[in-house]
Amino acid sequence: MADRIGCSSSTECVERIASILGSSRDAVAFTGAGISTDSGIPDFRGRQGLWKRFDPRMATRSFMLEDPRAFWEFYAMRFEALAGAEPNPGHRALARLEGEGLLAAVITQNIDGLHAKAGSRRVIELHGNIMTSRCDDCGSVRPTEECARLVRERGEVPRCVCGGLIRPSVVLFEEPVGMFEAALRIAQESDLCLAVGSSLTVYPAAAIPEAVKAAGGKLIIVNADPTPLDQRADLVVRDGASPVLAGVVRALGLGEV
Ligand code: APR
Ligand code: ZN
Repeated sequence: MADRIGCSSSTECVERIASILGSSRDAVAFTGAGISTDSGIPDFRGRQGLWKRFDPRMATRSFMLEDPRAFWEFYAMRFEALAGAEPNPGHRALARLEGEGLLAAVITQNIDGLHAKAGSRRVIELHGNIMTSRCDDCGSVRPTEECARLVRERGEVPRCVCGGLIRPSVVLFEEPVGMFEAALRIAQESDLCLAVGSSLTVYPAAAIPEAVKAAGGKLIIVNADPTPLDQRADLVVRDGASPVLAGVVRALGLGEV
């Protein structure tokens, strides 16, 4: 499997991405867990992925209802693993590109909040955000930190005054992706999708890069492993997200991130 499609060296790839980005009118970034691994957060299907150590069933709605205690132990562990994480050069590069008017939005599958923390302003969090939790019945919201502490220190499942189960404000498997339509509208207006750090295997999210291509736009994939969309992409770079994106910002003369 080629390490690159559409360019022949890391430097040439970075320069090609910079030139395509510089001449696009409405680019979007589409990110997955791979952009956050340099911040110490494991991805799901990469070499050290979470789904290599845990059963993905733990992230389903049915598991949450069947065994709320084990569900919350898993999510309390995930929350603690990312609560202290900081944005890395990949996140900062996308924020800089948006600030320079070269990126219209970041559509992310990540729940870690690192794009906003890096300064990105227009962020569509397709799968929600783990920092808050909400009642599954009445929707009342509370900080996940409080819930994780209750699980950890007292082994209790967080419950709402209405009796409902409090759960992280993330989209579980078997639940609808509420932000998908908004993200799809943005994608259909875009002439370039920069897909970074995603295996592009989970739908409906992975339909976003496909929608940009279907609308006549270009698709650039920056990912450490092959993805099912590689053969349809205009450019594929199998390198680290942080160095590639920081290199693109540098190649555009926008300095260091
Ligand atoms: N640079 C570039 N690519 C990387 C890096 C890195 N530093 N680290 C990991 N990767 C790549 C991996 O090779 C992998 O192909 O990022 C990809 C991450 O893919 P997944 O782990 O499948 O994550 P993602 O695509 O975001 O998963 C989508 O699946 O489990 C659900 O809800 C979860 O939002 C998640 C969704
Ligand atoms: Zn409630």
